[in-house]
Amino acid sequence: MSGTTESLEELQRRVARQRDRPAYGHDALIVCDRLVRIFARRGGGDGVEVQALQGLDLLVREGELMALVGASGSGKSTLMNILAGLDVPTAGAAKVAGRDLLTMDAKARLRYRREVVGFVWQQTARNLLPYLTAAQNVALPMQLAGGSRRERAGRVDDLLSLLGVADCRDRRPQAMSGGQQQRVAIAVALANDPAVLLADEPTGELDSATGQQVFAAFRRANEELGTTIVIVTHDQAVAGEVRRTVAIRDGRTSTEVLRRTEVDETGRESLVAREYAMLDRAGRLQLPAEYTAALGMADRVLLELEEDHIQVWPDENDGENGDGYEGRTRGENDGRTDGENGGRTDGGNG
Ligand SMILES: Nc1ncnc2c1ncn2[C@@H]1O[C@H](COP(=O)(O)OP(=O)(O)OP(=O)(O)O)[C@@H](O)[C@H]1O
Ligand SMILES: [Mg+2]
Repeated sequence: MSGTTESLEELQRRVARQRDRPAYGHDALIVCDRLVRIFARRGGGDGVEVQALQGLDLLVREGELMALVGASGSGKSTLMNILAGLDVPTAGAAKVAGRDLLTMDAKARLRYRREVVGFVWQQTARNLLPYLTAAQNVALPMQLAGGSRRERAGRVDDLLSLLGVADCRDRRPQAMSGGQQQRVAIAVALANDPAVLLADEPTGELDSATGQQVFAAFRRANEELGTTIVIVTHDQAVAGEVRRTVAIRDGRTSTEVLRRTEVDETGRESLVAREYAMLDRAGRLQLPAEYTAALGMADRVLLELEEDHIQVWPDENDGENGDGYEGRTRGENDGRTDGENGGRTDGGNG
């Protein structure tokens, strides 16, 4: 009987260990776990679906300023709309600052949009009310959330100066430049001190010099207020200036570029960027198309585990009849063209 008790105890310990293991993204502010969003095709009653997000994983830590890039149609705006609480995913999990974006009811969703996230759109005209001044635009979200008039006035001025548009205080949007409008829009989005600021191509309608100014305003908000910021951008200059750029491909996160400052022996600082591929929770990895094309990899690759890395080889049988795996060891036969079989098991194709 004692054997049974022991194994029961062991089982309990194992369950406890499982339970105590931190959940995926437990310390992240934004957690997307195998996020799926399927749309019925626009305008079509033909039952054709578009899988805009196909199991997207993304973690964003508190205080980060990061960029999302990707080809048109890759799912960037779909993701942003979900994080903004404007759209609901079809499956998977999405949490922002502890709020579950799948299960929020309408009331919680409204509060979430007002208090937890701020949003800046690409279209300058969409961000501000045209008949209100900059100061009135920034005060409006605070008014909706409550708070005294005096507190509001102070914060409006603080935000406008922080973003370098104090001089636009009493102007309406039509009397401001595009870049000024976007910086006021950032102030509006920050009015209620959100945990997360989301921006979908905020510099898309601006020339590059103005885009740089607007990006500098995001950076200031991140540094001074500690707001976590996610920016979707096509602008290489913007993407090159953040510490982390995540690329989305076909509705999934595919690669990630991390940048850090390194100091060399002479004391000179330089920004070093490294590109990483994303390994999803099931262990799936997407190889860059340039790499697979260069080596003619298709369908199958051969993997070999080394002490500190994994080697990926093209399938040598590609183009032969497929299942004649040769069990060949790399290195032994490389470069052999003498027609000899040299230790190679021929697998008996044919
Ligand atoms: N409301 C919708 N109804 C149907 N299909 C949609 C809807 N919204 C997006 N899609 C489709 O989902 C896919 C992803 O679109 P999304 O707008 O997220 O791309 P994106 O990465 O933001 O592209 P862009 O860089 O052009 O803005 C596209 O194929 C798009 O046509
Ligand atoms: Mg988009």
